Amino acid sequence: MGAIKCIGILTSGGDAPGMNAAIRAVTRTAIYNGLEVKAIYRGYRGLITNEIETFKTQNVSNIIQQGGTILKTARCAEFMTPEGRKQAYDTLVSQNIDALVCIGGDGTLTGARIFATEFNYPIVGLPGTIDNDLYGTDSTIGYDTALNTIMDAVDKIRDTATSHERLFFIEVMGRDAGFLALNGAIATGSEAAIIPEIATEYDQLGELIKNGFRKSKNSSIVLVAESPLTGGAMAMAERVKNEYPQYDVRVTILGHIQRGGSPTAFDRILASRMGAAAIDALLDDQRNVMIGIQNDEIVYVPFTKAIKNDKPINRELLNTLRILSI
Ligand code: F6P
Repeated sequence: MGAIKCIGILTSGGDAPGMNAAIRAVTRTAIYNGLEVKAIYRGYRGLITNEIETFKTQNVSNIIQQGGTILKTARCAEFMTPEGRKQAYDTLVSQNIDALVCIGGDGTLTGARIFATEFNYPIVGLPGTIDNDLYGTDSTIGYDTALNTIMDAVDKIRDTATSHERLFFIEVMGRDAGFLALNGAIATGSEAAIIPEIATEYDQLGELIKNGFRKSKNSSIVLVAESPLTGGAMAMAERVKNEYPQYDVRVTILGHIQRGGSPTAFDRILASRMGAAAIDALLDDQRNVMIGIQNDEIVYVPFTKAIKNDKPINRELLNTLRILSI
């Protein structure tokens, strides 16, 4: 493959606050380096259906503060088939796009890895997901904003939980990862977090009840990570209602509110640095890597590692939460 003259950019999978800041950074760094930029709409689907537009610097003006993604996003089943990917490849060739920057989570990077290998095509990925579940980066784009959204919502729920002396189970997103639940619980002074990473080790709810939730207060807040492994907040509440009827239980599922909103300063800076690094990486002949930031340094993480290595939660945080909720 010759020198890269034109790059394509897309967002795919669940949106995350900060994706627009990343799109802006990729576009402007590419143009600064003399590259042409083509924006692909609706993720991999737009590659198949040829929904593509040339981007100039002004196309990304006034978007750094916006949540969502101006490129739209989709979860594309067709791209999971060899025929769909061949169509996508043909579009890239016909549009003279020499390399791709794909912004998204686990599914997006899995698609990127398969495509890059199949067609020997240069791709750099950016970790864009509120779940923070990609190995090789301390934080993913959108995670900090979602955490702050959770904090604001839980703070409000606490007011009513305290007034009514109730036990609240609040379900947060994370698709099988407990980062939002665990750090959300610490940030809100919640009594506990129930997370999938330790679900098979012991009965988290049983332990909580045995220890009497928070001994010094009558109201309690427990953050529950969505996952078949935890069963979710509804299942927790049902169990408490059946086994411990003395508690006045309520459930709140925060849902997609966690994916929206203006990105925090942290996410804007993270996305800007990562977006610029994606172009540097492509110009530096890096292929099939995800941009990560570890200890404030940009790192290149091979797709296989980012996707396949389960990112561990920091178990010390569990202990901190336990101690602080006495
Ligand atoms: O991966 C991001 C995420 O928000 C997960 O936390 C959640 O499980 C999933 O996406 C929800 O997906 P959808 O918006 O397609 O329902």
